[in-house]
Amino acid sequence: APNYENIKIDVVGSKKNVGLIQLNRPKALNALCKPLIEEVGKAVKDFDADDKIAGIILTGNEKAFAAGADIKEMQNNTYSGCQKTGFLAEWEIITNCGKPLIAAVNGFALGGGCELAMLCDIIYAGENAKFGQPEIAIGTIPGAGGTQRLPRYVGKSKAMEIVLTGNFFTAQEAEKMGLVSKVFPVDKLLEETIKLAEKIGTHSPLIVKMAKQAVNQAFETTLKSGLLYEKSLFYGTFATDDRKEGMTAFVEKRPPNFKNE
Ligand code: CAA
Repeated sequence: APNYENIKIDVVGSKKNVGLIQLNRPKALNALCKPLIEEVGKAVKDFDADDKIAGIILTGNEKAFAAGADIKEMQNNTYSGCQKTGFLAEWEIITNCGKPLIAAVNGFALGGGCELAMLCDIIYAGENAKFGQPEIAIGTIPGAGGTQRLPRYVGKSKAMEIVLTGNFFTAQEAEKMGLVSKVFPVDKLLEETIKLAEKIGTHSPLIVKMAKQAVNQAFETTLKSGLLYEKSLFYGTFATDDRKEGMTAFVEKRPPNFKNE
């Protein structure tokens, strides 16, 4: 396995089919320095390419999911330097993952931490989670998707309020506004997130991937072309063995045996 310095990886779940990535810079509250994001990108890519893995969980520790981009790393950045190096470009690779990517958030998910959670497909949170986009308080704005993904998920008024005030909000508030799908006691969060990944893992990986592509398209396009895209993927499922197996198993009143084909 690769020798990571800023993350820990594991394969978990009763069927050992869930990839776990734990951000591991606890002293800096998992501030998202470039080497850390590069390691997350590599780990996600490797799990995505591994046929035995059904889904991937991204988590931190009880104090922090991640307290943002690394302020110390970017303190002396310049505009031209950001342009020339494509500052934060390495985040992009994480969004290329075809498999379900689930954030399990305990503690702080601030700035880039909130943005990292938002580029996952599903967010589960622990009761003590604190979200926010506090960049405004340090003289900048969200730079890893916060101004674009947050309004798509929670609407304009809430997103503006969060981005312009920099105020933190709780797991319960995040759930109410639809950012987070479920909230759990802190010590139950990871096992519940693993259960979620395992449930998804009972389905055909091929069809799960198509479903993820279809839902993601909702954030990229008009309703009409999104519906067209959905139809073509839906019709596409009829070219797969797993679609045939799923429906045949239903009719024969037995569990399906999906082959990822
Ligand atoms: N970058 C670098 N280091 C950070 C950090 C960050 N984002 N957040 C925390 N740390 C470090 C602190 O500097 C401190 O290190 P030292 O012990 O070496 O001083 C250590 O983590 C512990 O932090 P605190 O002592 O501040 O812990 P606290 O419990 O008192 O406060 C906190 C916790 C409220 C989360 C506070 O740390 C904080 O406000 N952090 C910054 C949050 C923030 O502004 N995030 C946005 C960053 S900008 C961004 O993300 C841009 C983007 O869109 C991509």
